[in-house]
Amino acid sequence: MPVAYRTLSVPIILTIETTCDETAAAVIDGSLNVLGSTVASQEKLHQKFGGVVPEIASRAHLENLLPVIDETFHKAGIAPADLDAVAVANMPGLAGSLLVGLAAAKTLAQVLRKPLIAVNHLQAHIYACKVAFKENLFPCLGLIVSGGHTSLYRCRTPIDFMFLGGTIDDAAGEAFDKAAAMLALPYPGGPSIQKVAETGNPKAYRFPRPLLNEPERMEFSFSGLKTAVRCVLEKDKSLAASAAARADVAASFQEAAADCLVAKTLQALKLTAMKTLCVGGGVGANRRFRKKLTEAARQADIRLYIAPIELCTDNAVMGAIAAERYNAGLFEDLSLDIHAGLLRETRNGKCLS
Ligand code: KG4
Ligand code: ZN
Repeated sequence: MPVAYRTLSVPIILTIETTCDETAAAVIDGSLNVLGSTVASQEKLHQKFGGVVPEIASRAHLENLLPVIDETFHKAGIAPADLDAVAVANMPGLAGSLLVGLAAAKTLAQVLRKPLIAVNHLQAHIYACKVAFKENLFPCLGLIVSGGHTSLYRCRTPIDFMFLGGTIDDAAGEAFDKAAAMLALPYPGGPSIQKVAETGNPKAYRFPRPLLNEPERMEFSFSGLKTAVRCVLEKDKSLAASAAARADVAASFQEAAADCLVAKTLQALKLTAMKTLCVGGGVGANRRFRKKLTEAARQADIRLYIAPIELCTDNAVMGAIAAERYNAGLFEDLSLDIHAGLLRETRNGKCLS
């Protein structure tokens, strides 16, 4: 239920992010200035499992969140009472992880008697571009390319997205993580593959690039690419033992993943006749992908915004999207719940389907 509050023109907002395996908080103002930001990564906890273990993630959020919030207040040089609102990413993500952030945000909002704001994590990934560039980005095509999502949205406004299509199997980041595990590279796989690929030959293996000859389908597929890496490694067991061979596999994998993302996104821009593209999410940090997309966008005369590398992976600064909801008077009461699943249609940040 929306709640009525007197709103300020430049509010100070605490944003909390615990959707997956980063515990993050930020204090931002309504002009999108970042007063303080902290990210506590859980990478080391999940590394030995080769991926995020949800139960471990939520327990680590429990331990980390209050120190992270404290540190963020300290960096911002403000006290909790200086806040005008408390925002939290309540969808989508791992249920247990989301609950930790939501419980903390509700408690703070209640104790401080400040409005509570819901943040849609996927919309926030796109909003990272707005925070970084402070330009008029909307309407735009939004590409969210992360560990859990590889999706295209028609972003009508910062808080009004329509799902156009996404991966039919693995997310791009998931494919990076799984391919890295096959190559015995540490989690998270994206940065590991990127590093090893620097010395490899991207043309050593011709890995599959599915759906490129179906331009009308705004969809992605990465499971075949992952399987192709497995087949190559199983066919010649000596490859895994050679650093040079692993670099070639990593570089060829990265090239194929980047090619698919770029080509399908360009096809979607054509189909939707949109001329502005905003990209967010962890895989957006990949240098090869950024370079290829920048070049393709330039050739197609597309206005491209990719979130800066530090704002691609999960962080609470992108929760600055809460300022939009604050300005629209979209506040929540204590019945606010989490929503773990993929959001197909959202309006005012609410899941419509
Ligand atoms: O957005 P994010 O931090 O969390 C989710 O919302 O999922 O994305 C994490 C994903 C992981 O799969 C990670 O391997 C991938 O982003 N990633 C990268 C890079 N940095 C992170 N993938 C490719 N290249 C990178 N440099
Ligand atoms: Zn994310």
